Amino acid sequence: MRAIYFLALGCSVAVQATTLLDRNLAYLSPFVGYPEFSHDTREIQARHIAYAKRQEVDASGFTDDHYPTFYGGDFSNAPFIWSGGLNFTHSGSYHRVVISRNTTLQGDPFDDSVLLWTRAVPIGTPDQSVPVCVSFKIFDNPQLTGKPLDSSEAFTSYDVDFTVKMEATNLEPDTKYWYQFADCTNSKTVSPIGATRTLSSPDTPADQVNGGKPLTLAVFSCSQFQAGYFNAYGVAAANTSADVFIHLGDYIYESLGNGARIGRQTLGRELATVHDYRQRLGQYRTDVSLIAAHEAGPWITVWSANPLDRSVQMFTDLRKIVLKLGMTMRLQTSPGRLVTVDDKLRIWRNFQIGKLLDLTMLDTRQYDRDITDLYYNTGFYDTLSQSKSRDAIWRVVGQQIVFTQLDEEGAFDVASGSIRNRILDHIQDNKIDNVLILSGDSHANWVSDLVHPNTTSYDPVTGAGSLAVEFAGTAVTSGSSFGTGIAPLAADAISQVLVVDPLNADLQWSEGSYRGFFTLTLDTTTATATYWAMSNISNPNLDAFPSATFVVKTGANKLTRPVAGGKVAAGILKASPSVLPSGVASG
Ligand SMILES: *[C@@H]1O[C@H](CO)[C@@H](O)[C@H](O)[C@H]1NC(C)=O
Ligand SMILES: *[C@@H]1O[C@H](CO)[C@@H](O)[C@H](O)[C@H]1NC(C)=O
Ligand SMILES: *[C@@H]1O[C@H](CO)[C@@H](O)[C@H](O)[C@H]1NC(C)=O
Ligand SMILES: *[C@@H]1O[C@H](CO)[C@@H](O)[C@H](O)[C@H]1NC(C)=O
Ligand SMILES: *[C@@H]1O[C@H](CO)[C@@H](O)[C@H](O)[C@H]1NC(C)=O
Repeated sequence: MRAIYFLALGCSVAVQATTLLDRNLAYLSPFVGYPEFSHDTREIQARHIAYAKRQEVDASGFTDDHYPTFYGGDFSNAPFIWSGGLNFTHSGSYHRVVISRNTTLQGDPFDDSVLLWTRAVPIGTPDQSVPVCVSFKIFDNPQLTGKPLDSSEAFTSYDVDFTVKMEATNLEPDTKYWYQFADCTNSKTVSPIGATRTLSSPDTPADQVNGGKPLTLAVFSCSQFQAGYFNAYGVAAANTSADVFIHLGDYIYESLGNGARIGRQTLGRELATVHDYRQRLGQYRTDVSLIAAHEAGPWITVWSANPLDRSVQMFTDLRKIVLKLGMTMRLQTSPGRLVTVDDKLRIWRNFQIGKLLDLTMLDTRQYDRDITDLYYNTGFYDTLSQSKSRDAIWRVVGQQIVFTQLDEEGAFDVASGSIRNRILDHIQDNKIDNVLILSGDSHANWVSDLVHPNTTSYDPVTGAGSLAVEFAGTAVTSGSSFGTGIAPLAADAISQVLVVDPLNADLQWSEGSYRGFFTLTLDTTTATATYWAMSNISNPNLDAFPSATFVVKTGANKLTRPVAGGKVAAGILKASPSVLPSGVASG
C-alpha cells in the first residue's frame, strides 16, 4: 500500500523543503568548487511538489491514506513524505576533513563534530517522487537517556539511494557518543544504536588524549566479499579496545568472483553503473561483522584515486568512480566535501589527535606515480615537518603500498621506490622521529624497520640505523599474495626465504597465510602493534588469535628487541626463524 504522510515537523514553523533536502549532505558535491557533481535539490523539491499537486488535483487511482494537512491547502513548500515504514539497512559514522586546493592546508581537525550516515529504505514499492524523512539524535550514553546533544531531520530520496548523511555538531572533543536514526513519521521505527567518538583537540596534551588511556586504531585493508566473511571487522569491534577504525583501501571490489561455495556470491555483474555500485555496497553491508564495526566507532579511510581500485561510498575512491562512470554522473555516496577533481592526486588527510599523534592518511596507489611524487614533495612532507614542530609525539602514516623494499625477484616490491626514498630522505634530513607507516594492499603481513636505501650501517639484530617502523597488514579476506588459500606451513616456507635474504635486511617478520587485521595502540612512550589472525573466513565467526605483538618506544625509530618478544604464533621472525608451529596460538 502506498502510504503518504503530510509533513509536520513537530513545530509550527514551516521548514523549507529544500532545507530538509540540503541537510542531507549526500546530495552535495563531494568536490570543492564542482557544484555540478551535486544534486539539484530544488529540482528534486519541484518534483516532490508536482507530485503533491497531482495528488491534490485528482487523487483517484491512488490509494493513499488520508493525511493531515499541516499547511492547509498550500503545498508549495510542504511535500508529502513517506510513512509506509522504513528499513535502516546500515548505519555508521566517520570523521570528515575538508581538503583545500591550497596545499598549505591539510584539513581541519573537526574535534567537535562527526558525520553520521545511514540508509533508510522505504518498505514496499515507494513512489520515486516521495521524499523520506529521517531524524537523528546523539547522546552521551548508550541508553540514549536525557536530552540529546544534537538532533536534526533531513530528507532523502531515491536520487541518493535513500542514503542520509548528517553532521552531528557542537560535541565535546575526545568524547564517546551514541546515536540513532528514526523515521520522522514514526519515532518507533529506529536504526540500531551506533557508537562514535570525537577526536582530541590538536592542543590536548599527549597524556590526556583519550581521557589519559592509550588510543587504539584498528587497521584494515582489502575486504573482498566473495573471498570470505569479514570476521576481522567483528573481532576488532568485539575483542579489541579499538577507538577508531582505519581502512587503507579496497573496501569493496568491482569483480564478480565466485563466492558461491561459501554463500558469498556477489550480486549483479562487474561494477559499471551507479546501480551496480549501490547493489554491491548494499550486499557488502549485509555482513554482520562489517555492520558491527560500523556501529562500534568512527571510521577514517584512505581515499584512493586509483581507477583500478574498488572502494566507494562514504569513504573512498569517489574519483575513480567519476573517472569510470564519466563526469556527468551525480554522486550521492561520497565523503562530504573533499577534494577538487583536477587536484586529482594530492590526497592526504591529516588528523591532529592531541599532541599524541598526527594521523596522516595518504593516497599512494596512483596510476600516475610521477604526479604523486610531485605532490608528496610539497604537502605531505610539510605535514611530517609540521607534526614535528607542533611537538606531536607520533607520526602515523596510513597508506596503501608496502614501503619496505622487499626483494623476491620483484614479486613483492609493490611500492614505488621513488616515493619511498623521498619520504625516507625527508625523515632522515629533517631528523623526524617516531614515524610509523601503516600499509595495506599486499594481502600479507610484514613488519620492518625502515632503513634508508643509502644506509650501509643498518644492523638487523639491534635495529641500529633504522629511521622508522612499518606495520603492513594483511587483507580482511582477499587472497594471499603468497597464493590464495595458502596453508600456514607453505606460507612460512616463503616467509623463511624472504626474512633471511640479505637484501631484505630490515624485514623482521613475515606471515602470509592468515587473513586479518592489526591494532596499533599508542601512548606517550610506547606504540604496540598486535596482529590478529582469523581462524576461518569461510563462515561468519569471531574465532581469531593474536599472531604477533610488536613494540616501538618513542625516540627509538626501530622495533624493540627482541622483536615481537622473540616469539610469534604465526609467520617467521628474522631473529628466530624457528618459531612455534604456525597456527598454534600461544597460551
Ligand atoms: C531490511 O533490509 C534487510 C537488509 O537488506 C533485509 O534483509 C530485510 O529483509 C529488510 N526488511 C524489510 C522489512 O524490508
Ligand atoms: C593558502 O592558505 C594560507 C593559510 O590560510 C593563506 O595564507 C594563503 O594565502 C593561501 N593561498 C592561496 C593560494 O589561497
Ligand atoms: C641516496 O639516495 C637518494 C635517493 O634516496 C639517491 O638519489 C642517491 O643517489 C643516493 N646516494 C647514494 C650515494 O647512493
Ligand atoms: C571453515 O569453515 C568452512 C565452512 O563452514 C568449513 O567447511 C571448514 O571445514 C572450516 N575449516 C576449518 C579448518 O575448520
Ligand atoms: C570475541 O568476542 C566474542 C563475543 O564476546 C566471543 O564469542 C569470541 O570468542 C571472542 N573472540 C576472541 C578471539 O576472543
